[in-house]
Formats: sequence, structure tokens, C-alpha cells
Amino acid sequence: MSFIELRNIKKEFKIGENIVKALDGINLSIEKKEIISITGRSGSGKSTLLNILAGLEKSTDGEIIIEGEHIEKMGESQRIKFRRKNIGFIFQSYNLLPQYTALENVALPLALKGIEPKERIEKAREIMKQVGIETHENHRPNEMSGGQQQRVGIARALITDPAIVLADEPTGNLDTRTSIEVMELLINLFKEKGTTFLLVSHDEVAKNYTERTINLLDGKIVDIEQIFRGTILT
Ligand SMILES: Nc1ncnc2c1ncn2[C@@H]1O[C@H](COP(=O)(O)OP(=O)(O)OP(=O)(O)O)[C@@H](O)[C@H]1O
Ligand SMILES: [Mg+2]
Repeated sequence: MSFIELRNIKKEFKIGENIVKALDGINLSIEKKEIISITGRSGSGKSTLLNILAGLEKSTDGEIIIEGEHIEKMGESQRIKFRRKNIGFIFQSYNLLPQYTALENVALPLALKGIEPKERIEKAREIMKQVGIETHENHRPNEMSGGQQQRVGIARALITDPAIVLADEPTGNLDTRTSIEVMELLINLFKEKGTTFLLVSHDEVAKNYTERTINLLDGKIVDIEQIFRGTILT
């Protein structure tokens, strides 16, 4: 069995009389330390897939197995506990708490785990240094640039040393140059730490940074290679 196994994952939303199949039978195996990008046009199911993997949303059907543990069988509180321990999530719009400083935002996951202030401040400073944002520990989100806020978001995702990091368009709100800096930071960190990383992006450039690309269309996986062969044969 692989590190992460998705088996026939379906997610349906009922809108009035209609059923939207956001995910329509996703089968995917992911090995430890793999770095994968998930691409596909708007509405293809990328965010839904990531949210289900993170345990932020529940699938309608199918199995999600991470290191032998069935996520879909867990109750709400067990799922939250599992997520806090194993998964880091990086958002397109950073999702920082506006009233907190950068340092407090980064340390928050440790506060939720009940770690003492002294230890969490120490750990937050260490991780902020790793992502190059140690100079801004007392700044609030609205006192930082997009790139700086995303570095805080990255530090917050990494402070618990998660085995898996999921990022939904992490460079979507950044200019090209800052995007490249942030992507290189992420990829270098994850290679060094051996983190399993799934990156959602509809930016073609993301593919250059990752080892495998999963292409989604209408809630189904359409393999890049398959598309390529199809083009050649027809
Ligand atoms: N909470 C919801 N209620 C109803 N439909 C939803 C909900 N969330 C997503 N959908 C639908 O599921 C489909 C997949 O949405 P999703 O957000 O996963 O797409 P995406 O690939 O992330 O798109 P984008 O690139 O625009 O972020 C879309 O048709 C969307 O309208
Ligand atoms: Mg999305």
C-alpha cells in the first residue's frame, strides 16, 4: 500500500434539482516524499480534492487511506486531530488572523496543541528564519506584502513538522517574481525535509517544479501522458 491511497473518491453537491459531481471517481496513489502538482481548469475539482485530502470536507463516497488509516471513517474530532498532527495547509489568500502578529500567527498551531508559550515562540522564530521572514515577527498581516504574508502562511503550515503539505494556488495572489521565489522556497524546503507535497495550480510553471502532474477534468483524472498519446494518435 502507498503512503496515501485515494480509492474511487466522489464528491457531489446538490444544488436545487441538480447534482454537481465535483469529484467523480478519483483513484490515486502517492508515495512518501512525492512532490505532485494538480492542474486543471477552473471548476475541475482541484480544491475539492485537496480539501477532502486535508479532512476539511467529507467525500460522498470512496476511501482515503493515509499511512494505513482510513480518514473517511473518522469522526469529526478524530479527523481534526489527525489533520493537526499530519497535514499542513497553505492557502491562496494566506488566511492569517488579522489581529495577530506574524509570530503569533506562525505559533498558533502549537498553541492549539497546548504547547507552552516559551517553546512555541522559540519554534516559531526558528521556522520563520527558515522561510526568511524573521525580520517581521511583530508585523500584523496588513503591515506585510503578499509575499511576506505567504511566508508567514508557509511557516504556520510547517511549524508542526507535518509529513504532508497541501497548497491551494499558494502563488495565485503574487506577482511573477515573488511567485518564483515562493515556489523555490517551498520545493527546496520539502526536498530537504522529505515532505510529501501536493500543489494545486493552474499555472503551467508549477509543473516545472514537481515530479508528477495530475490533470483533472470534470472531477476525473486525465493523465498528462494519456492526453499526449491521444494527440499523437489522432
Ligand atoms: N460548496 C459547494 N457547493 C456547491 N458546489 C460546489 C461547492 N464547492 C465546489 N462546488 C462545485 O464543484 C466543482 C469543483 O469545484 P472546485 O472548487 O474544486 O474547483 P477548482 O478546480 O478548485 O476551481 P478553481 O480553479 O476555480 O479554484 C465546481 O463545479 C464547483 O462549482
Ligand atoms: Mg480551487
